[in-house]
Amino acid sequence: MKKIAVYPGSFDPITYGHLDIIRRTLTIFDEVIVAVARNSQKSSLFTTEERVALIQQVLHEEKRVTVDTFTGLLIDYVSSRKAHVIIRGLRAISDFEYEFQIAQMNSSIGQDIETLFMMTSVQYGYLSSSIVKEVCSLNGNIDVFVPPEVKAALRLKYGLD
Ligand code: COA
Repeated sequence: MKKIAVYPGSFDPITYGHLDIIRRTLTIFDEVIVAVARNSQKSSLFTTEERVALIQQVLHEEKRVTVDTFTGLLIDYVSSRKAHVIIRGLRAISDFEYEFQIAQMNSSIGQDIETLFMMTSVQYGYLSSSIVKEVCSLNGNIDVFVPPEVKAALRLKYGLD
């Protein structure tokens, strides 16, 4: 049986920090479903379709990754994809409390689903999509944070190119 993991998030936009988690997940699982939350409570810069398209572009060579969207409860989505594992990246102690709460809630309502945490690699420990957007909007260099396709899309959004 194939080992499938779901990596959910808002991905507004995807960064090298997310890609690092995806690549490392592929060393443990056969397939990774990157699941973009449609109705995240956050207001987003990119539409869901734009976020999906960017992830697909960046990961087009990785045949073991599929990109999808979901609405509603994450655990319902995970079950619908016949997966049992949710991957989350942990960056700092500040992430822990929130992630712990969500993982506990998910495990009490979706009992056969495990959440697996990966420590974000040191060089991405301070990264977030919001900080990349802020730096880009102020015309800063974001080469080390996001792939070229994402940089181009961000600069276009901010009317910089
Ligand atoms: N490297 C760098 N940055 C990272 C990272 C990594 N490895 N992992 C996460 N981040 C950043 C993201 O860029 C994001 O930055 P931002 O806040 O500036 O946008 C931040 O960390 C957290 O984002 P993300 O991992 O995408 O989580 P989220 O909080 O946006 O999304 C959902 C969480 C969508 C998975 C969650 O809300 C959910 O499951 N919703 C569905 C509804 C549901 O089931 N609710 C019940 C839960 S109990």
